[in-house]
Amino acid sequence: MKRMTGTAKNNHLISRWRCPSNIALVKYWGKHDFQKPMNPSLSFVLQNAFTETSVELHKDGDQKLEFFFEGVVSDFGERIEKYLDHLTTRLPWINKYNFRIYSRNSFPHSAGIASSASSFGALALCLTEIDFTFLGKDINSQGFWLMASDLSRIGSGSSCRSMYPGFALWGKTHLFESSGDEYAIPLTEGFQPVFSGLRDAILLVDSGIKEVSSSAGHQLMNDHIFQHSRIAQAHENINELYLALLTGNQKKFIEVVESEALSLHAMMMTSNPWFILMKPNSLEIINRIRRFREKTSIPLCFTMDAGPNIHLLYFSENESDVKAFIERELLAFCKNGHWIDDRIGNGPERITDGQ
Ligand code: PMV
Repeated sequence: MKRMTGTAKNNHLISRWRCPSNIALVKYWGKHDFQKPMNPSLSFVLQNAFTETSVELHKDGDQKLEFFFEGVVSDFGERIEKYLDHLTTRLPWINKYNFRIYSRNSFPHSAGIASSASSFGALALCLTEIDFTFLGKDINSQGFWLMASDLSRIGSGSSCRSMYPGFALWGKTHLFESSGDEYAIPLTEGFQPVFSGLRDAILLVDSGIKEVSSSAGHQLMNDHIFQHSRIAQAHENINELYLALLTGNQKKFIEVVESEALSLHAMMMTSNPWFILMKPNSLEIINRIRRFREKTSIPLCFTMDAGPNIHLLYFSENESDVKAFIERELLAFCKNGHWIDDRIGNGPERITDGQ
């Protein structure tokens, strides 16, 4: 079939996007209302960990959705069907078409890195482009990215931060008038150049199935004994981190990032029921990172998602020392010695013919 990105012809319309994953420095944990965050979060997008998705609308047959992940029919299709159902009030054209969706990740499915951020990000970008095409609106406008961010948030909260190059902020804070709980905003202005050389070595400690889904985890914050202090801490950490990015304060950056990762895990350890998602090897890596920093004064730190893998963050000027450290001291604690060499990225990309 002929491919026409964002163009309708013969009742077929195709949109294709690549969307990166992101890693939070200040963590989103806990929701209010529908998919809105209990506290603001701040993240950066990765360059090498992404999802590519193509959405094709058609009127052939009567199957509403065919979803292929890396060439095969996937269970994730059920989650996408519910998502599309949910969006019909905002995008009424969803009811008029059938969907053929192809998706692939740049990272192995079994790696244990969350793929919902990049997956929903890519899907939301395709849906937003299709909507803009139907309405004759220009996709090169700020409204495009805000809408894509909002739509992706409905599928997976953290995915709304994957829409921009570099850093993004999601959730209402006094720091930015334009911030909101419905979508993320880009943070591009005024950061010290050292942060555009951020590196992320994703150390894959365990690729097993999650002990607790992120939606169940978020729910545990509803009546968490530390809920109020956690919300206050996240607001304070957003302020401190933003100031560190503006002033180039790497020491403060490290302090906030590690405190956020540990607070996220502390929230899980102190909820009812509790969960310990770190593994002995996660702790070993964390301790070694701290010792290496103390011994060498090289600025590096760790962060984590709601799982056992460690994101080792460092700066481009220390690349060779840190890579030697990873190989010498950390790979022994990674599953089959696996890690992913990533860095701060340029944000989503529309895939055109020939790419
Ligand atoms: O987007 P969700 O519902 O999968 O939540 C992810 C939350 C964390 O990854 C733990 C933190 C974050 O801000 O990304």
